[in-house]
Amino acid sequence: MELVYIKTYGCQMNVHETEKMYASFASRDIGKAERAEDADIIILNTCCVREGAETRVIGNLGLVKKLKENKRGLIVAVCGCMTQQRAVAEKLHKRCPFVNVITGTYKLPQLPDMVERVKNGEKFILDLDKDERVPCGVNAAMRTDKVSAFVNIMYGCDNFCTYCIVPYVKGHERSRRSADIIREVTELVERGYKEITLLGQNVNSYNDGETDFVKLLDELSLIPGDHWIKFMTSHPKDLSDDVIRLIAERPRLAKYIHLPLQSGSDRILALMNRKYDMAAYMHKIEFIRKLMPDAGLSSDIIVGFPTETEEDHLLTEKAVKDIGYNNLFTFIYSKRTGTPAATMDGQVPEEIKKERISRLIDLQADIASARAAACVGKTCRVLCDGREGKKLKGKTSADRVIVFDGDAAVGEFADVLVTSSKNSKLYGKAVK
Ligand code: 5AD
Ligand code: SF4
Repeated sequence: MELVYIKTYGCQMNVHETEKMYASFASRDIGKAERAEDADIIILNTCCVREGAETRVIGNLGLVKKLKENKRGLIVAVCGCMTQQRAVAEKLHKRCPFVNVITGTYKLPQLPDMVERVKNGEKFILDLDKDERVPCGVNAAMRTDKVSAFVNIMYGCDNFCTYCIVPYVKGHERSRRSADIIREVTELVERGYKEITLLGQNVNSYNDGETDFVKLLDELSLIPGDHWIKFMTSHPKDLSDDVIRLIAERPRLAKYIHLPLQSGSDRILALMNRKYDMAAYMHKIEFIRKLMPDAGLSSDIIVGFPTETEEDHLLTEKAVKDIGYNNLFTFIYSKRTGTPAATMDGQVPEEIKKERISRLIDLQADIASARAAACVGKTCRVLCDGREGKKLKGKTSADRVIVFDGDAAVGEFADVLVTSSKNSKLYGKAVK
């Protein structure tokens, strides 16, 4: 049997794109290789949100070139966000002429066809056509995890935050039909999945013409079974009070919201085109905390956006302190060609960005420890998702990691008394 190996860069959305690609190859009797060395086809599913991911792709292509020198007939494809940009795709072709297929984000379902064309003698295929049609029916995916599953609800983004490349490489916002999503989630729950994460760049603007995001969540939360539903990512300008109320009300909706703030300075938020200010953001946080005092909150922060001063950064630190996230994803601003921020005056020097991010990481480590310590003595419902040594490992509904003693199997829920904490991690024991 022929084997394909897919290397994924970037976010969870890309992880799921890879799961779908494995399924489309499997339907042609091409299996999954666990290692690149064993594969007949190697695919790099790239990301371009920040420069780091792009650099890794170029580095890994050097290794792939060596594999290809030793294996005649090895087919290499590069796809995803990075190569959706025509200039990048053309440069890559010049620099790495051994790559057989270069395509972007739209034509992933057609990759097995393109590979077939290469087998039939075509030397090189470049296909960057934009196809914004939304696939109908249930998405076939070869999911790596047996407990947690991703489900796309929408594709693309219309927000055009000034630092972000996503709208240029993933196209306009478009929603899958709610009936397809409901069927997919129902099937996954029937197959035993316990945590379903709905995916979209801005899930709050989901709308298939008849069903909006609250209605979709309402219907999904009524699918019978013992499981949690989560979603990401929410845009603070669009997360409605109705959605927050529904999460508070429905046991199957996990009490966890990822709500990227990006900056704590109103001036920087305006330059980023985020369309909310700190007052509006805090208002949402207060409403979430009022209805769900134990809800888990996480966020993304970009440090060193053009013109960011020390005062702006201190406002971000203050916001992070005041809000008290469980978890914070911090990024150094990375210039993306073609976005408005890339040509703004006042680019911040690298050393300043590094110094600011390290302060922010230290601050968040203290906050996460304190929030974890405050959980000691509480009993939480935990989804067991693996083992850590002899102990069980799992996640709470608020997305906190917990290591515990007990006899739950992977994929089962347990009530766990939190007995201690270390950094952001909780430790505990199952209670009957
Ligand atoms: N530089 C740094 N971080 C970025 N992000 C998006 N674009 C950039 C960029 N140019 C971050 C944002 C977003 C997350 C997915 O990636 O914080 O929420
Ligand atoms: Fe990028 Fe903003 Fe869209 Fe998120 S909402 S994908 S940060 S443009």
